[in-house]
Amino acid sequence: MTQERLLSVRDLSLEVAQRGVEVVKKVSFDIEPGEIFGIVGESGSGKSLATRAIISLLPPAIKVTGGQVNFKGRDVLTMSEAGLRELRGAEIGLVFQEPMTSLNPSMTIGRQLEEGLTLHTNMPAATRRERILAMLQRVGIRDPEGALSAYPHEFSGGMRQRIMLASVMLLKPALLIADEPTTALDAVIQRDVMELMVELTKAEGTAVLLISHDLPMVARYTNLIVVMEKGSLVEQGTTEQILEKPQHPYTRKLLSSLPIRGEVRTIDTVSAPMISARNIVVDYPGRKSLFKKGTPKRALHGVSVDIHAGEVVALVGGSGSGKTTLGRTIAGLVNQSSGDILFQGRERSADWRDYRLNCQMVFQDPYSSLDPRMTILSLVEEALRLVPDIDRPAKKKRAYETLEEVGLGAEYALRYPHELSGGQRQRRDRPCHCPAAEIPDRRRAGLGARRHRPRTGLDALFRSAEALRLFLPVHQP
Ligand SMILES: Nc1ncnc2c1ncn2[C@@H]1O[C@H](COP(=O)(O)OP(=O)(O)O)[C@@H](O)[C@H]1O
Ligand SMILES: [Mg+2]
Repeated sequence: MTQERLLSVRDLSLEVAQRGVEVVKKVSFDIEPGEIFGIVGESGSGKSLATRAIISLLPPAIKVTGGQVNFKGRDVLTMSEAGLRELRGAEIGLVFQEPMTSLNPSMTIGRQLEEGLTLHTNMPAATRRERILAMLQRVGIRDPEGALSAYPHEFSGGMRQRIMLASVMLLKPALLIADEPTTALDAVIQRDVMELMVELTKAEGTAVLLISHDLPMVARYTNLIVVMEKGSLVEQGTTEQILEKPQHPYTRKLLSSLPIRGEVRTIDTVSAPMISARNIVVDYPGRKSLFKKGTPKRALHGVSVDIHAGEVVALVGGSGSGKTTLGRTIAGLVNQSSGDILFQGRERSADWRDYRLNCQMVFQDPYSSLDPRMTILSLVEEALRLVPDIDRPAKKKRAYETLEEVGLGAEYALRYPHELSGGQRQRRDRPCHCPAAEIPDRRRAGLGARRHRPRTGLDALFRSAEALRLFLPVHQP
């Protein structure tokens, strides 16, 4: 007896309609029921667009120019909207990188989990509730009853991703598409979430299409892997083959992108530090409710750190350990309860403007830190607004130069943030924050941190006057 093939993608080609640029080129692969299948490739290689085509959820600008997608013998590309809606929730579950954007922030967890069950099953309300509570318990939510009436922002990133998994697996889909599901999480939590995903899908016989730029991570969980580069599938094979005998140079490059210690700069640590944080204590007000006053939570307990000119300081720790808080405090986005921050030996408040110009942040979640209504060019230009004595043409010129520097050519300038891949969005953030290397008058080189826009987190790069200096709160050693 031959088992029915679950998914078959044949010669799929996609292009950006107006520009006629081919972004996915004749990609083919098959997924069998219950299999864990990986797609790897660096950001911008076409992974997300190829997988969005599988569920016919392409952005309006992207058109299918050739090929077929077949799910359980049905042709997805010609399916009706109603057929697709049924397919997406009930048969194919989706988990994305940014759980904050895939969970609805204004809806309680309970309602979000109900939604799918109400839409795709005819379970009575009591059964639905029972199922939801059991599932929340299963994904490790400590107080499932309480979670029902809570909102997504009340949970950590790892917990949100567990809730997302719960909501998807409640419907027992035949295929789970997980696009960079753990990229925003720290190493320890990443493993927990991945293990949970494997366990849940195994129990239901759900196949997984796991998409990531991180080949070692994908290799840990998959049987088969395809490698994509610039829209083309350059290699495919079993995970063993890919790890042990990679054929394509690009695959070898992905495998060798494991950390190698580069050349380390010599730093003048004799002179006074550029930034000196001393005994920083930060208390966040606790959550208030009608009946009780919130108890403040201490996020930093007297932390001191010196950053010298040209130095790269990494801050490593599990999520919730205070990395982001320290970063934000140094950048002036969070007020410390006590402790001092000195800039070039003086209390930084002595010259806020200069400090703000010279101390910049790049945030973790580029999607929510970029205004979706502005083009990439205007976003970069806007960041130059704090720089004194710069006229419009000069601003434009510098914006184009910085885009070029981070590998986003002029063709990206007039695009909107949603028209970039995740990694490209992150690079857009970078130019306005570290142009120091190219610009002669470095005291004026800084670009403005924009405080007014909602930000979700940060892996930051800090920089100051005479040289580039980085302060990197990261969760991977
Ligand atoms: N909505 C869009 N409009 C135009 N181009 C896009 C859009 N989304 C992605 N692209 C482009 O298509 C290419 C592939 O993107 P994507 O599939 O997101 O890559 P990956 O998931 O591998 O990081 C990139 O060059 C990206 O800039
Ligand atoms: Mg992607």
